[in-house]
Amino acid sequence: MNKTFYIETYGCQMNIVDSEIVTSILIKAGFKLVKHIKEANILLLNTCAIREKAVERVINKMKHHKSLKNTGKLEIAGILGCIPEHTGDELKSKLDFIKLQVGPDKYRTLPELIKKIYREKTYFEELDFDIDENYEDVTPYRSENTNAFISVMRGCNNFCSYCVVPYVRGREKSRSMDSIIAEVEQTLAEGISEITLLGQNVNSYDYEGVRFPELLQKVADVKGLKRLKFATSHAKDLSEELVDVIVRNKNISNSFHLPFQAGSNTVLKNMNRGYTIEEYLAKIDMIRRKLPDIAITTDVIVGFPGETEEDFQQTVEVLKNTEFDNAFMFIYSERKNTASAKNFTDDVPKEEKGRRQQFIADLQKEIGLEQLRKDIGKTREVLIESLSKKRKEQYKGRTEQNRIVVFDKITNFNVGDFVKVKIIKAEGVTLFGEIVK
Ligand code: SAH
Ligand code: SF4
Ligand code: F3S
Repeated sequence: MNKTFYIETYGCQMNIVDSEIVTSILIKAGFKLVKHIKEANILLLNTCAIREKAVERVINKMKHHKSLKNTGKLEIAGILGCIPEHTGDELKSKLDFIKLQVGPDKYRTLPELIKKIYREKTYFEELDFDIDENYEDVTPYRSENTNAFISVMRGCNNFCSYCVVPYVRGREKSRSMDSIIAEVEQTLAEGISEITLLGQNVNSYDYEGVRFPELLQKVADVKGLKRLKFATSHAKDLSEELVDVIVRNKNISNSFHLPFQAGSNTVLKNMNRGYTIEEYLAKIDMIRRKLPDIAITTDVIVGFPGETEEDFQQTVEVLKNTEFDNAFMFIYSERKNTASAKNFTDDVPKEEKGRRQQFIADLQKEIGLEQLRKDIGKTREVLIESLSKKRKEQYKGRTEQNRIVVFDKITNFNVGDFVKVKIIKAEGVTLFGEIVK
């Protein structure tokens, strides 16, 4: 089919990979990817339902894009990903002009579905889950040239009480190790130097008895892999064995993303996180003991139902004492069908939620900068990722700890190379340095 398409991606890294999978499927079926919406016959938004704000953003964006219909080129607008699974008909009534909704397990149906819409001029949707669908044989059409995301598992079984992911992505399923290794090899052969393995909870990876530490070791062993990262780890399942794999392999990034969500045990219990804050902190101690130079990042939710000032102060304490490099801080957003929506009242006032978020954002800004300042004077191994956005005569790269470094370009070094960089200052979330010759 000789039609053009444009895809816009929202949400987490899993969705970035999924858009690359969708692009690959459509190109193979003869559709042509275009770089600007104005040139597209088909517009697809790959969406996220994690918080109400994410949904509102997509609805507004789609309404805005609708005006492009006036150009005459846009013929079909569709919604992919997590919102269709969460909102379904409700979304369709808000965006009555959309012609398709397709959930994360049904992307293979897209070419036929689009043809059908052209033929029958009506709306179609494919929202079923498929426990066997891993897109193992689809090579994602990569949008980046230094880092490749590879999803190793899909879905989630954890049912944290506030979270839509188990409902919009379905049950956990792991890809075969062989297919992952093959994709890593192919990606490296294409000149990409860095791989990030993805899953909502990578510690749950289980393919015919192969668990995540074994998979990580096998991937780290692939010849030519310069840097390996992974996300996300869940504190309840994080093992010493996994940390030991990082200790043993120089090409695995010295960084961990380990969400704690809340500092109060009452809140953690109501969130159904499966650990106490003491257990979480013991895991952090174990990681830091084995990897003293590690950089740890986290996620936090404020304003969960029933969160008192005292509960919140416990979150503040954890942030103060743990010295995270970075924390992603979210205001609780009630999601329909989840356990917390059914069992609790969203009772923390909006302004109070905002105040709590702002308070920890300010606090973490200081802590994060303090962490970066500890690097001043050190020489770090940096992987060059791109030209600096602000100044073309500078490179942007990342240290082993995944910290961003900006430094002057010198000849002989290119994107994808490792260089030794001496850190000279830290500002905001960025390190600045100079190449050590
Ligand atoms: N699987 C990952 C997180 C995926 S969602 C994990 O368990 O760590 C990313 C983050 O969004 C979560 O860590 C949580 O902090 C936040 N989040 C999820 N649902 C939310 C909700 N209903 N309201 C506010 N934040 C939420
Ligand atoms: Fe959501 Fe919890 Fe699964 Fe993460 S582990 S995706 S927060 S249910
Ligand atoms: Fe959002 Fe779906 Fe990811 S809900 S966070 S895009 S799995």
